[in-house]
Amino acid sequence: MPTIAGPSLSPHKRIVAARSENTGCPRSAEDITPRKRKLRSDSAAAVPTPIKRKSPRRCALMAEVEEEPNGMLETQFDCLDGKSKWNPRDDDQMKAVKEALHVSTAPSTVVCREDEQRRALEFVKGCMEQNKAGSLYICGCPGTGKSLSMEKLRLQAEDWAKQEGLPCLETVSVNCTSLTKTTDIFSKVLGENETGKKAIGSSTPLEQLQILFSQKQQSSSSKMMFVLSSFLWLIIADEMDYLITRDRRVLHELFMLTTLPLSRCILIGVANAIDLADRFLPKLKSLNCKPLVVTFRAYSMQQIVRILQERLVELPYVAFQPKALELCARKVSAASGDMRKALSVCRSALEILETEVKGSTDEEPQIPVPEDQMVKMDHMVAALAKTFKSPVVDTIQSLPQHQQIIVCSAAKAFRGSKKDRTTAELNNLYMEICKSSMITPAGITEFTNMCTVLNDQGILKLSQARNDKLKRVSLRVDEADITFALKEIRFFRNCLL
Ligand SMILES: Nc1ncnc2c1ncn2[C@@H]1O[C@H](COP(=O)(O)OP(=O)(O)O)[C@@H](O)[C@H]1O
Ligand SMILES: [Mg+2]
Repeated sequence: MPTIAGPSLSPHKRIVAARSENTGCPRSAEDITPRKRKLRSDSAAAVPTPIKRKSPRRCALMAEVEEEPNGMLETQFDCLDGKSKWNPRDDDQMKAVKEALHVSTAPSTVVCREDEQRRALEFVKGCMEQNKAGSLYICGCPGTGKSLSMEKLRLQAEDWAKQEGLPCLETVSVNCTSLTKTTDIFSKVLGENETGKKAIGSSTPLEQLQILFSQKQQSSSSKMMFVLSSFLWLIIADEMDYLITRDRRVLHELFMLTTLPLSRCILIGVANAIDLADRFLPKLKSLNCKPLVVTFRAYSMQQIVRILQERLVELPYVAFQPKALELCARKVSAASGDMRKALSVCRSALEILETEVKGSTDEEPQIPVPEDQMVKMDHMVAALAKTFKSPVVDTIQSLPQHQQIIVCSAAKAFRGSKKDRTTAELNNLYMEICKSSMITPAGITEFTNMCTVLNDQGILKLSQARNDKLKRVSLRVDEADITFALKEIRFFRNCLL
């Protein structure tokens, strides 16, 4: 595994702006990358709990995977053969796998982002070759590899400039979440206490940058200014969403640095808000600084599997059953495509296995760990359930039995295209379920009262009607949540088949 990339992963952390200078003897990627892996404490990494029994969500999730064709597994996991034996009781092995899956551990290769990286690098190279300014706007949902890719891009740009013998490149990465106020971006770029600021005197940081990037500097008699004037500046403003103010003045001024006469500023703005482009690009266009836009789409299931596999493949053992990784990828891609979440779920599953294995050591120390004690479907299902459990599920699970039967009837009633039914129709279904399991049903008055309670809980929606039986009932929660919540109880599992 390689070293860490440094940029910001958590909005709550103060991120230090990274500066590197390419003043004739530029630093290589190796030089600016810290050699040690750093691990960030990550609140997303859930605390493990031992598996005691299969929850309904586990059953549901496992069933889901078993139904799926998994042809891709055969092709994608061929490379897992021939590894040494994995022992989850070995603390060093466990630590190594956790580290490989930690969000702060930069992967050696950034797979599945080749196209986006190529477009961004070509843009920067184009600016450098022609010695001209320009702006690039990177957008995409959280966890889609934007910061990772931009860190890589910064290193590639520096290396490329060095190789090509192009004029000096000054790169500045700022994570905007680290700024106390939006206008601090300018002093951050300028670099407090650094050459730029000292050289230009007492005007505001924005004015200093304007002087620095524009042709005005050419007339400066200062030697320092002359040196700085030969720089091409690459500014990466990550988490740019934090610069949005009502009038967006700071954002506009930042982008306008690239349109100053003979500007030598290449700006890359990175934002999570995908609609930010729509909101401020028209204005930038009118200011004559419309950036090139590269969108990072949410990761697909196949991409998440590939990324996880790439991160794990460097380890000399196989800690995860391929199907378990696939399940994680499927769930995360369906929910958000956020790689941070996928990593967190995998770590959580690993911790569940760890607790299980350690527990078995305490109870039966003489029993060796079975050879195939990897993270399996069970562990992954438990980790996923922990991560994705919805409050609706809790509410349904804590209802009294007759209300659960009504909810179960409603789930059955609204399968297919039917959106609502009368209370009387729902009552018939409720009676049927009670009868089939030899439970005495509540009378119609009590039944309608229970429907009212479920309406107040936000599970059902009851329309107004003078006759209670004619009130129309519809579902306000996902049928999948009901199925998941009630499958725990065998009685309901059969009902919901
Ligand atoms: N293509 C990828 N390959 C390996 N790891 C990735 C990839 N994309 C994202 N990650 C991991 O996911 C996490 C979030 O990525 P990041 O670049 O910070 O996302 P974003 O900036 O889009 O929110 C990081 O830990 C990163 O290492
Ligand atoms: Mg980011």
